[in-house]
Amino acid sequence: MRTMTFKVFRYDPDDGRDPHFQTFAVETVKGMTLLEALYWIMENKDPSFAFRSSCREANCGSCAMHINGSYGLACRTQVENLKPPITIRPLAHLQVLKDLVVDMKPFFDNFKAIKPYLIPGEDPPEKEYYQSVEDRKKIDHHVDCIMCGSCYGSCPVAYGDPKYLGPHALLKALRFVDDSRDGAADERLAMVASEFGVFRCHTIFNCQLVCPKDLNPTGAISKLKNKIVVKKFPFMKIFVKT
Ligand code: FES
Repeated sequence: MRTMTFKVFRYDPDDGRDPHFQTFAVETVKGMTLLEALYWIMENKDPSFAFRSSCREANCGSCAMHINGSYGLACRTQVENLKPPITIRPLAHLQVLKDLVVDMKPFFDNFKAIKPYLIPGEDPPEKEYYQSVEDRKKIDHHVDCIMCGSCYGSCPVAYGDPKYLGPHALLKALRFVDDSRDGAADERLAMVASEFGVFRCHTIFNCQLVCPKDLNPTGAISKLKNKIVVKKFPFMKIFVKT
């Protein structure tokens, strides 16, 4: 057993105090995850301490937060790999509701804006949509996104422009553009080529660095830009010679 110091962001809109950090001495054991350490604090020090979690196995995306200067999933982070004092903050760019819990509505509003569902181009088949192994491979990379918000929190463009669709939504947009069963690629490309879409990305790659699923939203955004340029939508006259 090893006692480690945690500096945890605290904010309760009902107690009248300004946001602050609170320090806890946590008894850690080998193999303990950061999420388990947060539960230890809640169960042993302060039952009012608020954070999100669900699956505890890096699948649901609930426990993303700012961990010692980067972003990641608490349930996938081993405490013994963190340098103390372990400093924990909520995801950035989103309103803090309490402690580590932020309002994810703007994040999911951006996601909804890209129409994250299949829009078939023809009448539905009698039984089921067929997708070849090769076509499925084209979206293998993008479907693994668990919408945790690590990429969004790390993105300086999202920080400066809340209307920017964000790396999570744009990666999902490519997931549908590249899906052989979808019939709305042009509509989707026009959507992400809009004022708050792909051309806001400054190709900083923070999103790729922090993604807990090793995905590459910056690369996805670059692919979308390329597809848009190739299509030569009317507005593209300002970007390419025709
Ligand atoms: S609790 Fe589900 S991803 Fe961490």
